Amino acid sequence: MKRKQPPLPISALPEHGQSRAELLAELEKFAENDPDYRAGRTFSLTYHLGDEHEQFLSDAGRKFASANGLNPSAFQSLKSMETQLVAAGARLFHGPPDVTGIMTAGGTEGCMLAVKTYRDRARRLRRVKKPEMVVPRTAHVAWLKGAEYFGIRLRFIPETADLGPDLEKLPKLINRRTIMVLGSAPEYPRGMIDPIAAMAKIAADAHVPMHVDACVGGFILPFMEMNGEELPDWDFRARGVTSISADLHKYGYAGKGASLILYRNGDLFKDQIFVETDWPGGVFASAGMLGTRPGAAYASAWATLGHIGTDGYRKLAAETLNTTETLKAGITTIKGLTIIGKPQGPLFAYRSTDKRLDIFAVGDRMEARGWHIDRVQNPDGLHAMVTIRHTEVVDEYLADLKAAVDEVRADPKLAQSGSAATYGMLAHVPMRGMVKKRVREIFAGLYAPGGGTADLSATSARGIGGMMDRLATRIAARRARKERRR
Ligand SMILES: Cc1ncc(COP(=O)(O)O)c(C=O)c1O
Repeated sequence: MKRKQPPLPISALPEHGQSRAELLAELEKFAENDPDYRAGRTFSLTYHLGDEHEQFLSDAGRKFASANGLNPSAFQSLKSMETQLVAAGARLFHGPPDVTGIMTAGGTEGCMLAVKTYRDRARRLRRVKKPEMVVPRTAHVAWLKGAEYFGIRLRFIPETADLGPDLEKLPKLINRRTIMVLGSAPEYPRGMIDPIAAMAKIAADAHVPMHVDACVGGFILPFMEMNGEELPDWDFRARGVTSISADLHKYGYAGKGASLILYRNGDLFKDQIFVETDWPGGVFASAGMLGTRPGAAYASAWATLGHIGTDGYRKLAAETLNTTETLKAGITTIKGLTIIGKPQGPLFAYRSTDKRLDIFAVGDRMEARGWHIDRVQNPDGLHAMVTIRHTEVVDEYLADLKAAVDEVRADPKLAQSGSAATYGMLAHVPMRGMVKKRVREIFAGLYAPGGGTADLSATSARGIGGMMDRLATRIAARRARKERRR
């Protein structure tokens, strides 16, 4: 007799496989508590063009679901798609004919590869042993991760009063150990485009490579420009820009796992390639970080670019920018809120101008209304990565935001509860080492056997509270020691 299956969820491999239909139905249930990105409720993480497009991505991906980009000479199908995507990116970013690059699994892989490439180049050509890189404060965290992974010392460019990198300070930060300078178009925290041309000129004059992180902007800025928007030179047009990363899976609306990294020429690209000659498995070479690379990511990206086309991307850019401007204008009409810096493009963040209005508490009240919004710090704010999905929800978002602000004004104690308290403390506790330790503990907790919890307000507020207590005890002990010495 066939044994009855254990009920899902699967906490061990079931003895007998279950039916596809049953499992597909079960998968629907997993999604029940996810943020509703189809209805434009998320302001990061997803770029959803609609169900029909999602079906197209999966149909295109299915054709190459088992294909592997690991060996470019085996699946020549994938290599051809990659070559075409690289060529399309090179044209879009005004590159010379020599532009050389690959498709990566995402923005982070591209950022990390650039760090590795320029470290190895500096080591090879200039014998740099203690490498450094120069980045604006707003560089995406992937760059900080790359620096940590590859042992690079970070030198941050101080900010000017209008929140851009201070160009006067930049030349002094470059020295013989500098492997690269970074600029973003736009940067993630505030959506501002760094002064790429001026930074690239400084870098070129010092004979140092300059990378542009256009992970966000790569597939929207060119179309904004085609639509007549005046933007500063942010791509290969700027002399001194040696490489660019641009995500297909963001404003390119490709399936997840697709980005480009492009170098001005093949010589710069060479240091990205890993080669091992003595491995018993054979002589091995690889241009990216991954081993196996999913064929579906290539096929869905290739098909998406072909399907949307220049006119489609121009239309998407126009509508997205229109929505962004409507949101920004609406937010600034709410008393006590203002946009941070001068964003150009589909990203921005806003903050409170009123000490009694805690922006993180406003975030909590928005969350309670079903909006998934990222928090930023220095200054504290709420973030928006606007996509085509948000066009239909602008009025609802603004009405909810106004209501959330009113709620927090009526009850300022909301700032001391929920995740607002946690975010507030994480942003402001001066002992960053302690914060780091605590965040690591919280994060490890998420991966505890059984899945842990992702609820910041439940676990970490308590943990952070404990941390604050310990901090207070330490300060009191230090004071007592001082007193005794007197
Ligand atoms: C400017 C910038 N660079 C890099 C990344 C990393 O991209 P990914 O999440 O695809 O790894 C992001 C992600 O939002 C970004 O905004």
